Amino acid sequence: MKIAIIGGGPAGLYAAILLKKQRPEAEITVYERNRADDTFGFGVVFSDATLDNFEIYDPPSYRRITQEFAYWDDIAVHFRGTVHRVGGNGFCGCSRRRLLLILQERARELGVALLFEADIDDEARFADADLVVLADGINSRFRDKYIEHFQPEVDVRSNMFAWMGSTRPLDAFTFIFQETEWGPFIAHAYQYEVGRSTWIFETDPATFKRAGLEGLNEKQSADRMAGIFGWFLEGHQLLTNRSMWRNFPMIRSKRWVKDNMVLLGDAKATAHFSIGSGTKLAMEDAIALADAMHRAPTMDVALQQYEQGRREEVEKTQHAADVSLVWFEHVDRFWDFDPVQFAFGVMTRAKAITYDNLTLRAPDFVSEVEKAFAKQVRAKGFDVDVEKPVAPMFQPLRLREMELSNRAVVSPMCMYSAKEGVPGDFHFVHYGSRAIGGAGLIFTEMTCVSREARITPGCTGLWNDEQEAGWHRIVDFVHANSAAKICLQLGHAGRKGATKLMWDGMDRPLEEGGWDVLSASPIPYFPDSQVPREMDRAAMDAVKAAFVQAAERGERCGFDMLELHCAHGYLLASFISPLTNQRTDAYGGSLANRLRFPLEVFEALRAAWPAHKPMSVRISATDWAEGGITGDDAVAVARAFAEAGVDLVDVSTGQTVRDAQPVYGRMFQTPFSDQVRNEARVATMCVGNITTADQVNTILAAGRADLVALGRPHLVDPSFTLKAAAWYGAEAVFCPPQYLPGKEQIFRNSERDRQDFEDLRIKAKPKTRAELKAEATKPLAAE
Ligand SMILES: Cc1cc2nc3c(=O)[nH]c(=O)nc-3n(C[C@H](O)[C@H](O)[C@H](O)COP(=O)(O)OP(=O)(O)OC[C@H]3O[C@@H](n4cnc5c(N)ncnc54)[C@H](O)[C@@H]3O)c2cc1C
Ligand SMILES: Cc1cc2nc3c(=O)[nH]c(=O)nc-3n(C[C@H](O)[C@H](O)[C@H](O)COP(=O)(O)O)c2cc1C
Repeated sequence: MKIAIIGGGPAGLYAAILLKKQRPEAEITVYERNRADDTFGFGVVFSDATLDNFEIYDPPSYRRITQEFAYWDDIAVHFRGTVHRVGGNGFCGCSRRRLLLILQERARELGVALLFEADIDDEARFADADLVVLADGINSRFRDKYIEHFQPEVDVRSNMFAWMGSTRPLDAFTFIFQETEWGPFIAHAYQYEVGRSTWIFETDPATFKRAGLEGLNEKQSADRMAGIFGWFLEGHQLLTNRSMWRNFPMIRSKRWVKDNMVLLGDAKATAHFSIGSGTKLAMEDAIALADAMHRAPTMDVALQQYEQGRREEVEKTQHAADVSLVWFEHVDRFWDFDPVQFAFGVMTRAKAITYDNLTLRAPDFVSEVEKAFAKQVRAKGFDVDVEKPVAPMFQPLRLREMELSNRAVVSPMCMYSAKEGVPGDFHFVHYGSRAIGGAGLIFTEMTCVSREARITPGCTGLWNDEQEAGWHRIVDFVHANSAAKICLQLGHAGRKGATKLMWDGMDRPLEEGGWDVLSASPIPYFPDSQVPREMDRAAMDAVKAAFVQAAERGERCGFDMLELHCAHGYLLASFISPLTNQRTDAYGGSLANRLRFPLEVFEALRAAWPAHKPMSVRISATDWAEGGITGDDAVAVARAFAEAGVDLVDVSTGQTVRDAQPVYGRMFQTPFSDQVRNEARVATMCVGNITTADQVNTILAAGRADLVALGRPHLVDPSFTLKAAAWYGAEAVFCPPQYLPGKEQIFRNSERDRQDFEDLRIKAKPKTRAELKAEATKPLAAE
């Protein structure tokens, strides 16, 4: 067998090693355009988990690599004169040059031919090769040559970065967030061998320009960085090696295989340097390729298996890298945060590290985060314990005069079970049990302001006395038997009205018994949906009046709060999104015009709703569709409502148009809440695939939302909050007297379970290489 490998970076060399071990008879050649020791860059970083993989696949290179490594456990965050250190991270740094020399040496030992200064521009010379590995890096010539086939998507990110080195020793992975007269600069730095550290500097394009970095040569820009970070460098030099300022390209390729050619490493996909996974991904690609070649009967099958088997893992890492890079791009959002909350945000930015996980690893740090959070709550006039605070989820919140005893919320959810809009026994039990279950705030389902405003025949309403009596009974029960507050969500279905019950076909038009529907523009939701009537001024006035009357009824029912539904493509949302609003009058066109009618309704409600009671608005912060609402628009929408007196923005997304492309995942809407909260400076509630109390605490402690709503989890677990309170030992959670024996039992058991769980986690956690090394070098006297 003949294998040609184009590119002698980590991907190409490691693939050569593993394939040669597997097929000693194969003729394997690596073609590298540079000289053997002519490599750019400084250090690379691997996690313990990646090194475990290397140990399994090639112990000799693993041993040599790890002998050369610098180990560390801590991540240190420097921000506004503070430093926060978090242990238990298990990372290793190594010189890229040493890594490549080790891999070259190992490849040679095994009999791989290494040809340097061999710049390949045409793969035709490998016509007799059984396999051609394209490991030619981020600017892959061959990926571009077959661009139509591989279909790479290149997303060039906005921030500028430069990769430098230093002699400054470091004992932790170090992030420095530095304020300057031009704007924020960030350094990502770590030691990779004795006396050498990698320094990646990053800044936004405006700061880059203001700081006059444009057009400077390497030496000049290193001098500028040394000026900015000199206080930390303590006289150590900054070193350069092709350290030009660049923009990071996030690359994703639709296909990785063409005939007998296969893309590996950066050539196929990149991961942002802030999660330090580029070299890991490159070498693990080589592992995946070797595994597939080992298993599969033919080359074709092997290459297909490589691509199919590897893609998910690569995309997961890329997603984490994406989330992380966006955090760094928007660091200014958090610049006025308390430093410990800022550091918590840095640690939890990519979702892998959470509140609970940090509590195990760095209890003192989390205790400081909790105290800072409690102090903020205390500053709002709550008499909370700041020395031994409860977890953020159980901290109170005030909106106008409404006080919530905790931050967990039951999201609005249609039950499709009303008769002529009247909430019945099902609703009474549903809302009642969720209130008893401990959530601080409960939202009603979308309650329709008129018969024609309903989504389905099963939707609840609030336009007549019978409905008012039904809601009154529910509100009275909640107030009499729980500590929960209850918010009425009012809405109008618009073009999504006159549709079937969820279980008969979501958003599908009713076959009989429907009614005329309204929208901003006459565009049907499905091609076979009813064409809505474009609203004229008279229709607007009638709808506005219906909202006000429903709010007045809501006040008589005793609701604590009112939410205006302007999300999910319903009537008011149809005005906001340019995809559903094609009007040419004063209610269409610019965002300000599109917001005019929803704001009018809001203002009318605000005037009718008692001044001491809060109001929220639910928005779709993105349409997940080309030409639709984006996060930046959502910030403008939130600002407009905040000016009109909104107390909370309930940040949801999508459901505007049928052909949207939402990107789901854990907590997938939280970034939008983060953006709205920290750019528009308005309180937010986030929601969407948040399923654990750990996630709730992570989001709140990082300042990404003020309240966290859970929809589907509450459908199966009304006592989500009570159980979470038991886990976190939040004794003050409300429990009705009838249920107290259950509360006592779960609190007792949870304390024990939690202790067992933590012991197990600690026992099950292998020692990091840094810990092992520290133990091995510990002087005997210290034993
Ligand atoms: C600023 C920055 C910081 C980073 N920090 C880290 C980090 O801390 N940890 C980490 O793991 N990763 C890091 N990376 C990522 C890492 O450098 C890459 O992801 C990794 O090197 C990818 O390996 P590769 O083998 O796919 O590509 P490369 O290492 O780029 O290797 C490709 C090779 O192909 C050669 N080549 C290209 N074209 C041809 C041709 N036509 N003919 C012959 N040879 C060719 C090139 O000369 C090169 O040697 C960082 C990247 C950047 C930009
Ligand atoms: C069955 C069901 C009904 C819903 N009804 C409403 C509703 O009436 N009003 C509303 O604003 N959102 C409604 N939603 C959206 C939820 O409030 C929530 O945003 C969504 O389910 C995502 O959160 P989750 O992942 O916690 O379920 C509904 C969701 C579900 C699953």
